[in-house]
Amino acid sequence: MTIRLGDTAPDFTADTTQGKISFHEWLGDSWGVLFSHPKDFTPVCTTELGYVAKIKPEFDKRNVKVIGLSVDSVESHLKWEGDIAETQGTAVNFPMIGDSDRNVSNLYDMIHPNANDTLTVRSVFVVGPDKKIKLSITYPASTGRNFDEILRVIDSLQLTAKHKVATPANWKNGEDVIIGGSVTDDDARKLFPQGWKTVKSYLRILPQPKN
Ligand code: BEZ
Repeated sequence: MTIRLGDTAPDFTADTTQGKISFHEWLGDSWGVLFSHPKDFTPVCTTELGYVAKIKPEFDKRNVKVIGLSVDSVESHLKWEGDIAETQGTAVNFPMIGDSDRNVSNLYDMIHPNANDTLTVRSVFVVGPDKKIKLSITYPASTGRNFDEILRVIDSLQLTAKHKVATPANWKNGEDVIIGGSVTDDDARKLFPQGWKTVKSYLRILPQPKN
């Protein structure tokens, strides 16, 4: 099934390294990141899971729950977690879905047969508190993901959910933002009484609104 931005994230129940979960119920009012990796006991994945475990406090700060997945079993994940703690210096501190029956992988179209017909690709889905898909990215097996980029996008998603702004190329939290294209100057004067800089009529820049 193809999953597009704005779709409702498919719900599922699954066994994880932290017990059985129902995805939507587990998310509650939080944001979520669901990410797949191709296989347990593989090098790139080992570094990815170690890194996500290290920066988990950053996800917590943003009210984001993180959950991983591969087509291996929970039993296999739990064995592998020992290696991750040993080699990456951080214990895996989020649930990992055992998806041997490929139920979740199929729901989220995480197996791309022209890349590999049995292993999941490196998918990332960000889910909002409304359970809608806010971001979807796919990386090949050979490229480890940049999870700082995922945090950066979450900062933008959370800001733009609250304020009628957009964030420019390479924006980082705290930097100037852009007034959304659908906002007229009249409305912008009410929304942003502190003013903005007009570079072009369609490019209006202002400091990042406070939360
Ligand atoms: C890895 O994590 O290193 C990996 C997994 C599957 C295919 C290629 C690389």
